[in-house]
Amino acid sequence: MRIGAPKETEAGETRVAVSPETVKKFIALGAQIVVAKGAGLASGFTDADYAAAGATLGEQGEALGAEVVLKVRRPHADETTALKSGALVVAIQDPYGHTSEIEALAKSGVAAFAMELMPRITRAQVMDVLSSQANLAGYRAVIDAAAEYGRGFPMMMTPAGTVPAAKAFIMGVGVAGLQAIATARRLGAIVTATDVRPATKEQVESLGAKFVAVEDEEFKQAETSGGYAKEMSDGYKAKQATLVAAHIAKQDIVITTALIPGRPAPKLVTAAMVASMRAGSVIIDLAVERGGNCELSKANELVVSDNGVKIVGYSDVRKLASTASSLYARNLYAFVETLIDKAEKKLAVNWDDELVKATLLTRDGAVTHPNFR
Ligand code: NAI
Repeated sequence: MRIGAPKETEAGETRVAVSPETVKKFIALGAQIVVAKGAGLASGFTDADYAAAGATLGEQGEALGAEVVLKVRRPHADETTALKSGALVVAIQDPYGHTSEIEALAKSGVAAFAMELMPRITRAQVMDVLSSQANLAGYRAVIDAAAEYGRGFPMMMTPAGTVPAAKAFIMGVGVAGLQAIATARRLGAIVTATDVRPATKEQVESLGAKFVAVEDEEFKQAETSGGYAKEMSDGYKAKQATLVAAHIAKQDIVITTALIPGRPAPKLVTAAMVASMRAGSVIIDLAVERGGNCELSKANELVVSDNGVKIVGYSDVRKLASTASSLYARNLYAFVETLIDKAEKKLAVNWDDELVKATLLTRDGAVTHPNFR
């Protein structure tokens, strides 16, 4: 059983799919691991660290040609050709809106697993890459906001006078939003937060922040059985926009994290709202890769509005590569371990397992997942 960990080729991607810790664990299960030379450097793992853990350092092609390929991002077209038919490819595949790329993966004959489709059940919590990465993104968003903000976060009483606390508003209180609330509170900001799922109200309050939302009948029904937000009606969105417009004008920091699975991110912060904020305020849009929650945000850019509001579209876990890779590697290990027969020390995928069925995108040359067929 040969497992390969290639170097990520996506621009700006600093993470890696295996850590020296998980290399040791895979070897204990009877696997051989090939790590592409330099694959972990941007995450702070050297080739020597991997070698000491028992991995073989190899070329990119050797890592891509393994029986099981562990990646952070979906293989690019030029990597797909190096994959072996029948291999398992486990990664964050980002399948929505990428039909042709998923079809190309299928054609290469691999069984591609999308870690982000892992069901949110107790058994799979340890494999939940959305949570492990979103938690760090929420933390990092506040650190980025503090770095861009030309004023302090905590209230400071000094001989030269009192500095007021920053007011931070967190929009979307999933895993990232909750960590953003906790981090902003630790830094001393006055924190408010909003979400469309009623369950979040108590979570926000338990972190010492104030909940701000339109709490009508639609709000009471806004959570799916899977725990996610639904797309809200135009009527609700209008009421929400009025409330947010009044609130946002008084905020110094806005961190947006609102997402709806399989849909573009809801537009929550309009250009007019940005225009109402004071110069030097900071907006961090964590939903930017899915279209953004703010009308003015641009992926991987810092946009400064005409009235001097900084809109940041690049805060993400890539700046916490070491921690993000360590947690991601553990998520992958926990899943891949279930695909291995420990007594026989070989791959034994149970294609009927609910975690396999939920995450499997392609197999035997075809797109198998019902959502992407
Ligand atoms: P997400 O990343 O899909 O979305 C972020 C937040 O945006 C959500 O809280 C969502 O309600 C909110 N949102 C969507 N549209 C909005 C709008 N128009 N205005 C304001 N907010 C809006 O969420 P995430 O972090 O994936 O969490 C979703 C749920 O899954 C939560 O209930 C979380 O507690 C649960 N969860 C369960 C896990 C498990 O059981 N294994 C693991 C992690 C999360």
